[in-house]
Amino acid sequence: MPSDAASPANRDQILAQIAEPVAPALGDVERRLEDLIPEGMGGLVPVIYRHVLQAGGKRLRPLLTLLSTAAAGGDPASTANLATAVEVLHLASLIHDDVIDQATERRGRPSVPRQWGNRASILMGDFLVAEVFRRMADEFGRQALAVLAQAVAEMCQAELCEQTEDPLALTEEAYLCNIRGKTAGLIAAACEVGAMSAGDEAATLLLRQYGEALGEAFQIVDDLLDLYGDPELLGKPVLQDLGRGVWTLAVIHAVRVAPAESSGRLRDLLLAAPEDAAAAREAAELTAELGGRLYAEQFARRQVEQACLALAPLPPSSSRQSLQDLAEYVLQRQR
Ligand code: FPP
Ligand code: MG
Repeated sequence: MPSDAASPANRDQILAQIAEPVAPALGDVERRLEDLIPEGMGGLVPVIYRHVLQAGGKRLRPLLTLLSTAAAGGDPASTANLATAVEVLHLASLIHDDVIDQATERRGRPSVPRQWGNRASILMGDFLVAEVFRRMADEFGRQALAVLAQAVAEMCQAELCEQTEDPLALTEEAYLCNIRGKTAGLIAAACEVGAMSAGDEAATLLLRQYGEALGEAFQIVDDLLDLYGDPELLGKPVLQDLGRGVWTLAVIHAVRVAPAESSGRLRDLLLAAPEDAAAAREAAELTAELGGRLYAEQFARRQVEQACLALAPLPPSSSRQSLQDLAEYVLQRQR
C-alpha cells in the first residue's frame, strides 16, 4: 500500500481503498449518522449535531467494526447499527474532551464549547451517549451493550487520571494505562462488537487484541502529531498537551533519559510550557533531540506489529487485509 498519506487527496484515497470490502455498509453508517436526530426536533441538539457531523472525520471506528464483522466471517450489513453507535460515542467523547481540554478548534472548525459554551457541550455529549443506548438498546444484544458501556466507563476513568496526574511523577506505565482507557478501549470495543456478531469467539478475542494494540498505536501517534504535526492538516492547533501540562510518551521518555546537562533545561521548559508557547516549542524540539520522538515512533510501530500479529490466525480475506492496511495507515497518518 502507498506510504505517503500526507496529502488530503492521497489520504482519502487510501482510506477509501481500505474501506472497499465494506463500502456499502459504511455508506449505511453515514446515512444512519445523518438520520440520528429525528426531523423536527427543536432546540440546540440538531444545530450542534449538524456542526459536529459536517466537520467530517475519518470514521475509523465504524470502519473497524464493519471490517471486524467481515474478517470474523459475518455480514457487515448487519452491524451498521453497531458501527454507528460506536461513532456516536466517539463524537460525544470528543465534545466532552474539548470541554476538558478547553480546546478551541476541532477538525478545522470552532470546537463545540467555543461555539456554544461548556454547559451546552456537556449536555450535548450526554444526550448523544443516552441516545445511543436508548435508540439502539432493542437492536443490540446485551453483550454488545455491555462492551460499549464498559468502554465509556474506562474512557471516563482514564480522563480523570489524566486530570489528576502530576506530570513530574508520570511514568511510562501510567501513561500507557491512560491511553488504553481513553482511546484503545473504544477502538478495541469497536472491533469486538463487530466480530461478536459473527458468533466466532476465537476471532472475537483476536480482533479485540488487534483493536487494543492498534488503539495504543493510534493514541501514541495522536500525541506525536500534537508535538510535531501540521496544524493545517490536523485542523487544530498543536502543542496543546504541553500547554495543558500533559506529558506524553516522547516527553516522558526524554525526561527519563536526559543527561545531566540537559535534564534541568528540559524540565524548566516543560514546566514553563503552559504559560509560554515558545517554551512549549523548544521543549518539543529538545524532546526530539533527546530521542523521545524516535522512541515513541518505534513504540507505535511495535504496537502496530502486535496488532497485525493478532490478525494472523484469521482466515485470509480482503477485510483482514484492510485491517492490516489500516494499522499501517495509523502510523502514516498526518491528521
Ligand atoms: C482525546 O484525547 C480524547 C479521548 C480519546 C477520550 C475522551 C473521553 C472522555 C472525555 C470521557 C467521556 C466519554 C463519553 C463517551 C462522553 P486528546 O485530548 O489527547 O486528543 P485530541 O487532540 O483529539 O483532543
Ligand atoms: Mg483533547
